[in-house]
Amino acid sequence: MTPRQLELVQDSFAALRPLPKDLGIAFYQRLLAANPSMAGMFKGSIENQSAMFVSALALTVAGIAPDGSLPSSVRDLGARHAGYGVRPEHYGPFRDALLDTFAERLGDVFTPEVRQAWSAAFDELAEAMRSQTAPRP
Ligand code: HEM
Repeated sequence: MTPRQLELVQDSFAALRPLPKDLGIAFYQRLLAANPSMAGMFKGSIENQSAMFVSALALTVAGIAPDGSLPSSVRDLGARHAGYGVRPEHYGPFRDALLDTFAERLGDVFTPEVRQAWSAAFDELAEAMRSQTAPRP
């Protein structure tokens, strides 16, 4: 992620504020419609899951350092995800659904350059999460 990409990611995320509850719900609906086999992985309500996801994403985006390094909370998040049965191949469809949700919400603001910046940022986040193994029970 270049400094310019970090700026685009943080600014475009700010444009989604006040992060209406339905942003997360729209994302999960899109994710599960495109990947029905993932539905069984989520045990709670989509409302709760959406709220937890959007707040974790907001904290992560806000916590990226100026040099592009990710907040340390990402490691624990990745380890918990390995414990939920999330596999490396789940991250690509997850990214696509997220970026498509942003595109729908942001319209013209979500230019190809902004999409590319998000794609790079998500791939770094996914790489950091995927490199963790599940915590011991
Ligand atoms: C940007 C990356 C992601 C973020 C910020 C994120 C965030 C979260 C948060 C905050 C939780 C609540 C529990 C906890 O904090 O450990 C959670 C749970 C979960 N996430 Fe993610 N997640 C991400 C990627 C993924 C991906 C790629 C999948 C794959 C399908 C996934 C599947 C799940 C599942 C299965 C649970 C547990 C649900 C349950 O037990 O009902 N997440 N996620």
